[in-house]
Amino acid sequence: MSQPKERASWIKGGKATCAVPEGGKAKPWRLVLLGAPGVGKGTQAELLCERLGTCHLSTGDIFRAAKSSAPKERTPALECALGYMQRGELVPDATVLDLVRERKDCLHCGGGFLLDGFPRTVKQAEALQQILRQEKLALDGVLDYELPTDEVIKRLSGRRTCAGCKAVFHVLTRPSKKEGVCDHCGSKLYQREDDRPESIRVRLEAYATSTAPLTDFYQRLGLLVAVSASGSPEEIFQRSIAALQARP
Ligand code: AP5
Repeated sequence: MSQPKERASWIKGGKATCAVPEGGKAKPWRLVLLGAPGVGKGTQAELLCERLGTCHLSTGDIFRAAKSSAPKERTPALECALGYMQRGELVPDATVLDLVRERKDCLHCGGGFLLDGFPRTVKQAEALQQILRQEKLALDGVLDYELPTDEVIKRLSGRRTCAGCKAVFHVLTRPSKKEGVCDHCGSKLYQREDDRPESIRVRLEAYATSTAPLTDFYQRLGLLVAVSASGSPEEIFQRSIAALQARP
């Protein structure tokens, strides 16, 4: 597991820049990751980014970074978004779309991108298609990770996240070498507020109602690539690559 790449432009927005490869890749992959909360999208994003050189564009990471920033640095919309997130509810489409539009340059990242956690509603997916058209970009595929709900709940309830570099661990399946301490940067590991049982239930309901219909949306566009999320992260990664390469 290597240290996650710097993503200042995405995480901070505004005028922030990051040191990412400026083009030169034979094929920069442009992908969306779909799947229920806790299915392992972030874990796969880490492997895909490490090996394909793509940038991990997670909307959840923007909100979590805002939460740890000084309150005076947060806009009222972002402040309001944090309340939704803590309860496990979806943040309103208008807020999410403003954040993504503000960061549209990240879609031109020379290494390509992996959108994780966005889009999450049909309205967001339609808006993304419009942004991509305006920017003269196209998706190469939408990886849809599938896992039974009881497995998803086990993954979420054992997750621990690094307060410093945001690396993800699991108390049983991916423990850190020293309990409660990140292997990469030595910061403390914590349990996300939305990984408490009451928020997990709300998140899974929000997924079933608002995000699951996106599979039909992308199926119609011929972009959907269904991948089983059972097995080890490496097995799932290999399955993802094979499924992407098998696309016409
Ligand atoms: P977000 O951050 O996007 O969270 P999520 O979709 O709920 O996904 P997670 O990060 O919880 O899980 P994951 O699939 O990445 O799993 P992971 O790899 O960590 O969103 C959070 C909130 O922000 C939302 O609820 C909402 O409020 C708001 N939000 C964000 N975007 C939004 C949008 N577009 N619109 C509206 N609201 C938005 O893995 C989970 C655990 O399992 C880890 O411990 C990991 O180590 C372990 N694990 C992973 N793979 C395996 C494996 N193969 N075997 C065993 N264990 C594994």
